[in-house]
Amino acid sequence: MREEYEKRLKEYVRLVNAELAKIGSVKPVGSESVCEAMNYSLNAGGKRLRPVLALEFCRLCGGDVNKALRSACAIELIHTYSLIHDDLPCMDDDDYRRGRESCHKKFGEDIALLAGDALNSAAFQIIASEAKCGNISAETGIDIISILSSHIGVYGMIGGQVIDLESEGKVISLETLNTLQERKTGALIKAACLMGCKLGLSADITKTAAASGYADRLGKAFQIVDDILDVTGSFEELGKPIGSDEEQGKSTFVSLLGLEKAQAQAKALTDEALSFLDCFEDNGFLKELTNELLTRKN
Ligand code: IPE
Ligand code: IPE
Ligand code: MG
Ligand code: MG
Ligand code: MG
Repeated sequence: MREEYEKRLKEYVRLVNAELAKIGSVKPVGSESVCEAMNYSLNAGGKRLRPVLALEFCRLCGGDVNKALRSACAIELIHTYSLIHDDLPCMDDDDYRRGRESCHKKFGEDIALLAGDALNSAAFQIIASEAKCGNISAETGIDIISILSSHIGVYGMIGGQVIDLESEGKVISLETLNTLQERKTGALIKAACLMGCKLGLSADITKTAAASGYADRLGKAFQIVDDILDVTGSFEELGKPIGSDEEQGKSTFVSLLGLEKAQAQAKALTDEALSFLDCFEDNGFLKELTNELLTRKN
């Protein structure tokens, strides 16, 4: 079981990394510096959680993982863009990411800003070209563009980042914190799961509803663990600065509830997430992954 989990995870990450390297190999004359910055952040590693979730939901819904691969990678481009911008001095002002200097430290704020913007556009260009070349149908292309764009805009990731920034130095309610985290992190994780179902051509609304319920819980648990690791983790393991949240006066589950309650909340949400997976046959990998994310060290 464990061996199968590790093998599948390794294979997904290998596929995603190889495809990202291909995506990054295009370097138009005159845009070399921004392309270098995009590739620097994109190819610095990272868990590749979001494309892995998309590919696994695709598989669980009976789809072809190879045909879904580039579309799944589009989500990693969006995620990387969000991290480049998140680290900027005007946002979290963090100097390290994925074990190396953050994009703006290496390339300057102007190029880092543009690298994030370019990754954002490239994600949608990739999905459209996947539909054009027939790897996915035009309808699936429109569906996943709709899912992705709606989850990263003002109702999703950007919306969450705004609440996050505007809550700095303030005591906010648990309700506001939940909304903040659902949007800034949960929304993209949810987009990955729902895109996976679409890429798997699932017409089964029970499965899509289960994926949605699962993603809501996982997204929250994932950000709570991120908040915990900001306090209990090490720079070596995380590859990003520790104590950044406190330094920036962020409201997190740890600052609001304390470590113990935050840990209990993440565990309860993980258990809830797991309970949504029963309608999927062959759900062993996803169950293992979900549990791993609770006890992860990075
Ligand atoms: C970090 O995401 C930012 C959050 C949304 C919490 P990940 O923990 O998935 O970062 P990488 O991709 O593995 O670097
Ligand atoms: C990041 O949340 C959320 C997004 C990038 C959208 P954090 O600010 O907590 O992520 P880290 O800790 O810097 O990775
Ligand atoms: Mg942030
Ligand atoms: Mg941050
Ligand atoms: Mg964090």
